[in-house]
Amino acid sequence: MLQKKEHPKEKPGLHPRNKHRTRYNFKELIRSSPALAPFVRLNDYEDESIDFANAEAVMLLNKALLKQYYGVDYWSIPPGYLCPPIPGRADYIHYIADLLGSYNNGVIPTGPQIKCLDIGVGANCIYPIIGNKEYGWSFVGSDIEPVAIQSAANIIETNARLKGKVELRLQPNSKDIFRGVIRTGEHFDLTICNPPFHASWEEAQAGTLRKLSNLKGKRITKATLNFGGKNKELWCEGGEEKFVQKMITQSKLMASSCFWFSTLIAKSSHLKSVYSALKKVEAVDVRTIPMNQGNKVSRIVAWTYVNR
Ligand SMILES: C[S@@+](CC[C@H](N)C(=O)[O-])C[C@H]1O[C@@H](n2cnc3c(N)ncnc32)[C@H](O)[C@@H]1O
Repeated sequence: MLQKKEHPKEKPGLHPRNKHRTRYNFKELIRSSPALAPFVRLNDYEDESIDFANAEAVMLLNKALLKQYYGVDYWSIPPGYLCPPIPGRADYIHYIADLLGSYNNGVIPTGPQIKCLDIGVGANCIYPIIGNKEYGWSFVGSDIEPVAIQSAANIIETNARLKGKVELRLQPNSKDIFRGVIRTGEHFDLTICNPPFHASWEEAQAGTLRKLSNLKGKRITKATLNFGGKNKELWCEGGEEKFVQKMITQSKLMASSCFWFSTLIAKSSHLKSVYSALKKVEAVDVRTIPMNQGNKVSRIVAWTYVNR
């Protein structure tokens, strides 16, 4: 057994308003979600934790966090679909809220009149859940996967506080990002996106095995279903880089339908081609917002065609 290690009280990399800056309080989580109890155990540092390589444990932790912090009593996703790390998803929402605030005399705009389009809402519906709870924004969530849309619809239907706040739209053409989703005359304050990262199913599978091996501290050759990847959540032709380029090119055609377009960029080496695409479409303002979730560094890139 390792010696009890002193942990910092806060995860300073997370956004100051992120509710997950402190270590998870498992006693509190178990009180509201008793099903989590059998999965909580002391880790090598004698801190309460779960085995993050155990799909069921991660799922139950997410359910507990969503219940405790976001008022979502019922949350489930089909087997094999992406179980999102909630602190990182919350960071995107808070940082992008700051961006909106910086164009609103320093005041973050809140309430349902702020309309946000989540490109690739996924089966987990995570960004609308967090964005609606934290800032009261209303959401349209799009996806190309009928199963994802159905699952997100189920989450909205079973939680009274989400009803009427999140609308879901199936994107009929996987080559399109905005067309087929944004309606004539419709206006959004913001679009957000966590794009499919990998360029093929095999690459996504290898990524999952790498993640599991890191968590287990030994080489894993067969993935369980906990991090998803069975469907097209984690991969698309050309991966993140091509997906975002397509998004940027197509955003120009929707320049007057949205104030800020934005996307997560997981890999810094993709930034060069992202900036070059943004130059081509003549975005008038481009922001790169770094995020640091401790074990993972990423960034949001946001752009607008509106001169203010
Ligand atoms: C990495 S997942 C993100 C899911 C969820 N937003 C999250 O952060 O956990 C990417 C999502 O984009 C969807 N997707 C892929 N191409 C799309 C497109 N052209 N339009 C809308 N969604 C798309 C996938 O089906 C998948 O659900």
